[in-house]
Formats: sequence, structure tokens, C-alpha cells
Amino acid sequence: MLKSKIAGIGHYVPETITTNDDLAKVMETSDQWIQERTGIQERRYAKKHEETTATMGTKAARIAIERAGITPEDVDFIVFATLSPDYYFPGCGVLLQRELGITKTEIGAVDIRNQCSGFIYGLSIADQFVKSGMYKNVLVVGSEMHSMGLDYSTRGRNVTVIFGDGAGAVVVQPTEDANSGILNTKLHSDGTYAEKLAFVSPGSHGGYHTKKQGYDTEYGFDENIEYGEIFVTQKMVDEGQLYPQMEGQFVFKLAVTKFPEVINEGLTDAGLKASDIDMLIPHQANLRISQFVQKRMGLRDDQVYNNIMKYGNTTAASIPIALCEAWEAGKIKEGDLVCLAAFGSGFTWGSALLRW
Ligand SMILES: CC(C)(COP(=O)(O)OP(=O)(O)OC[C@H]1O[C@@H](n2cnc3c(N)ncnc32)[C@H](O)[C@@H]1OP(=O)(O)O)[C@@H](O)C(=O)NCCC(=O)NCCS
Repeated sequence: MLKSKIAGIGHYVPETITTNDDLAKVMETSDQWIQERTGIQERRYAKKHEETTATMGTKAARIAIERAGITPEDVDFIVFATLSPDYYFPGCGVLLQRELGITKTEIGAVDIRNQCSGFIYGLSIADQFVKSGMYKNVLVVGSEMHSMGLDYSTRGRNVTVIFGDGAGAVVVQPTEDANSGILNTKLHSDGTYAEKLAFVSPGSHGGYHTKKQGYDTEYGFDENIEYGEIFVTQKMVDEGQLYPQMEGQFVFKLAVTKFPEVINEGLTDAGLKASDIDMLIPHQANLRISQFVQKRMGLRDDQVYNNIMKYGNTTAASIPIALCEAWEAGKIKEGDLVCLAAFGSGFTWGSALLRW
């Protein structure tokens, strides 16, 4: 039976390092608070006006393409996962196609908006296309440039200190080798708590959320709001509403439940158990979440890879960056059982189980 495998992987992180102390210069926070709660020591910020989500994704993609032994012209489908796109529209998929110099039009490009689980969803989409025989070289990219869209005042500190920029990419190809490739992917969603971790304005609701933090769906409206103003109003600017909002503890509690659940779901489906995992790459949301999941799954330190200390949470990019780093460091070898898992805004969550 036709399966799919990761044939090439690459990642890119910008050069500029922003430390916790750098952030403490512009907002009320401290290195100690950030490290204790999240494990993060520093993160990367892309070069303003030079780099974008699409250009970083392109750098990671070029490496993945080369390692897969193909050229950009061989790519026949692009899946681009991001919550911080260059434009409202069109999506980053076509911008990446252009940046890669792919001029052929016998190619499709799709952007997906699944935030922290974006890469897992993207990989699953690629897996289905390859297994069905429709495409032979699917490029899956996760890239984020959070730095341009964060609130650097004390008001935004609970969110801003967590996020960083970067990109990762893989090329997914068919394989007939029964002993390697993607064994399964498991995807989930629950929209009940959509606003617990969200960036809601500007949007077609044409209002602004009325609770600063931990809000549910409650919108306020300027009395004189006109059609042309539905995207950005002065009130949104004045009240700092044009930033992501997160109810951290709520997210934390759900994350530590859903990670083990979805990892076990994939393992059970494949007739495997936690001790069979050679490398777990959890989405890098918070080191405390990863440690909790590790403990719950009964895994040793060498069975889990974390790099949030250096990069913060890079959302859709975090899994491919970590997977690439672990592989480059020789921590993932041929035949290893690799498990990827993510949970995030939506809420959406998922896992992917692969034999490397
Ligand atoms: C965000 C997170 C680190 C916050 O930690 P927490 O222990 O839940 O902290 P709280 O939000 O309850 O805030 C505790 C206090 O610290 C303050 N605080 C928030 N951010 C701060 C910061 N960067 N520096 C200093 N103090 C901060 C709060 O204002 C609050 O102060 P108060 O008690 O005087 O009101 C944690 O909830 C978390 O990691 N959640 C999961 C988030 C996540 O993974 N998101 C990505 C999606 S997968």
C-alpha cells in the first residue's frame, strides 16, 4: 500500500536574539518570571522590513527541497501553515511559490490557519494527497513572524514574552517501504472555547471584544460605526485590541490533557505503546507543558526534544524546527519511531506518528 514519508527537512531562524532581559526593558516582566513559568530564555526576531513569514518559510523550504533531492520545479503542492501571514490575502502559499521561483502553474497552494497545530494538520493533508496518488512532492511549511504583531507594553506581557519567529519545512513523498513513513495522523477540534486564545479584531464581526483578557464572545460596537470602518476603528487602536489575547491557565489545563490523549490515540491505532517512542517532538508551547506530558507518558529525557528555551513558541513552525534540529543533531535515526503532537488555538490538536 502506498504510504508517505518525510523525504527532506529544513528550518530557518532569524539571527537577532531577544532575551528576557531585553523584554524587561520595555515592559514589566523579568527573566526569572519568564523562565520559571515557561522555560524560555530567549527568542529570535526577524529583520523588520526585510524578512517576512513567506521569506523565512522560503529559506526553510529551500533546505528541505534540496535534502529531498528535488528542485523547486518538482514541487506539485504547497501547504503553508501560519497565523501571522504577510497579507490578509492572498495567503503565504502563493508568495512562497513566487519566492521559490516556481513558474509552472500545474501546482496547487493552500494556506491553513490552525495555529499551533498547523504543521500537524499540514502534514496530514500532505499525507492524504500523497497516499491517494494525486501528488508526489508536497511541500509543507510552518512559518511565523510574531514579532511584528505583539503588544510590547506591560498590557500584553502574558502573550508577548512567549512568542518568537522562525520557520520549518518538509517535503512529503510517496514510499512503498512498509517499514518507514507516516503511520497515522490524528486531528481534533473543539470550537467551544475559540476566544480563549485568539486574535479577533479586526474582523467581520465589526466590533471589538469587551473583555480585555479571558474574554468570551462579547462584542462592543461603536454607535456610529460605518461599513468602511469594520476592520479597524480608532477605539480598537486606543484600547490595544489589535493583539492576540490568551487566558493562559485555561489553555494550560486543556493542553496537558489533550497532548497525552492524542499521542495515545495514535499509538493505540498503530498497535504501539509509549515506551516504543524513540523521539517525541511536542509543539513548543511552554516547557512546563512538555515536562508534564513527558512525565504523564512515562518518557525519559532522551525520548523528548525541547528547544523552546532558545526560540520561544513559534506556533506553526515549532514542530518542524524542533524535528529538524533533533535530526541534524543525530537524535533521530533511520527506523526510529517519531511522534509529533500539538495543541493550540481553536482549540485544535493532533498527532502524527512516523517511522523515520
Ligand atoms: C502564559 C502562562 C505562562 C502564564 O502563567 P500563569 O502562571 O498562568 O500566570 P497568570 O496568567 O495566572 O498570571 C499570574 C500573574 O503574573 C502576571 N504576569 C503575566 N505575564 C507576566 C509576565 N510576562 N511577567 C511578569 N508577570 C506576568 C499576571 O499579570 C498575574 O499577575 P496578578 O497575579 O497580579 O494578576 C501560562 O498560563 C501558560 O503557559 N499557559 C499556556 C499558554 C500556551 O501554551 N499558549 C500557547 C498555545 S499552545
